[in-house]
Amino acid sequence: MKKQFVKALIGMALMTALTACGASGAAGGSSAAATTQAQTTPEAPAAATEAQTTAEAPAAATQAQTAAEAPAAATQAQTALVVYFSRTGEQYTVGVIEKGNTAIVAEIIAEETGADLFEVLPQEDYYPYTYDALLDVARQEQNDNARPAYQGTVPDLSAYGTVFIGAPVWWGDWPMIMYTFFEENADALAGKTLIPFSTHEGSGLSGFDSKLAGACPDATVGEGLAVRGNDAQNSQDSVRSSVTDWLSGLGF
Ligand SMILES: Cc1cc2nc3c(=O)[nH]c(=O)nc-3n(C[C@H](O)[C@H](O)[C@H](O)COP(=O)(O)O)c2cc1C
Repeated sequence: MKKQFVKALIGMALMTALTACGASGAAGGSSAAATTQAQTTPEAPAAATEAQTTAEAPAAATQAQTAAEAPAAATQAQTALVVYFSRTGEQYTVGVIEKGNTAIVAEIIAEETGADLFEVLPQEDYYPYTYDALLDVARQEQNDNARPAYQGTVPDLSAYGTVFIGAPVWWGDWPMIMYTFFEENADALAGKTLIPFSTHEGSGLSGFDSKLAGACPDATVGEGLAVRGNDAQNSQDSVRSSVTDWLSGLGF
């Protein structure tokens, strides 16, 4: 009974957000709204992985040639990092997914910029597989202002000038584990350009930019991008096109 009520509640919240945010999927008027509307032939998520693998193992000759021919692009690629949090399992509007919506967008950004990737993974993964149960856990974390720990070692942030940071919108906000990341790395992120991106089902960027600026006050926060989770799964050509437009507006 409680779950039905919660589900109905977030359903209403998402509908409201959908109405409110449908015309402004990204901060600064970028093309994310187009992303959400354009419907192209669905594309297998595996395509992103294949492209990334190819990009990871260039022949030595190709590397040398690329560096000689396009030094500016090579330098820019080395200075960007994509940090993201994403879930698999049952998700809103897309059923059970094997690759998270935000993970798909993160990989597209990395492919298009040559950036490195760092996934924020919970140290203790108590997040439920089913959507309704995940709603409850995420809500509780938010009510508790929790700071769930993440695992792994963050790459040496001094090597990067730009850090793209993305996550799903959870109850109108960053998932609390991202605040753990922001706070633990705020000093190392000082002076850098941080560019937020979200996946969502109606709430758009949901204030990710201002919230990120609040958590990392000594960094510069650039124009963010919001992508529909369903589009990330099912309309990847369209999403890639929105991502490249956005990146080009950012100078990538
Ligand atoms: C706990 C939870 C809360 C959510 N809250 C919102 C929300 O407030 N607004 C919204 O538009 N979508 C919301 N969603 C939908 C997700 O943002 C969306 O499905 C996202 O693409 C999931 O990304 P992922 O596959 O990378 O985890 C929520 C989903 C979950 C699981």
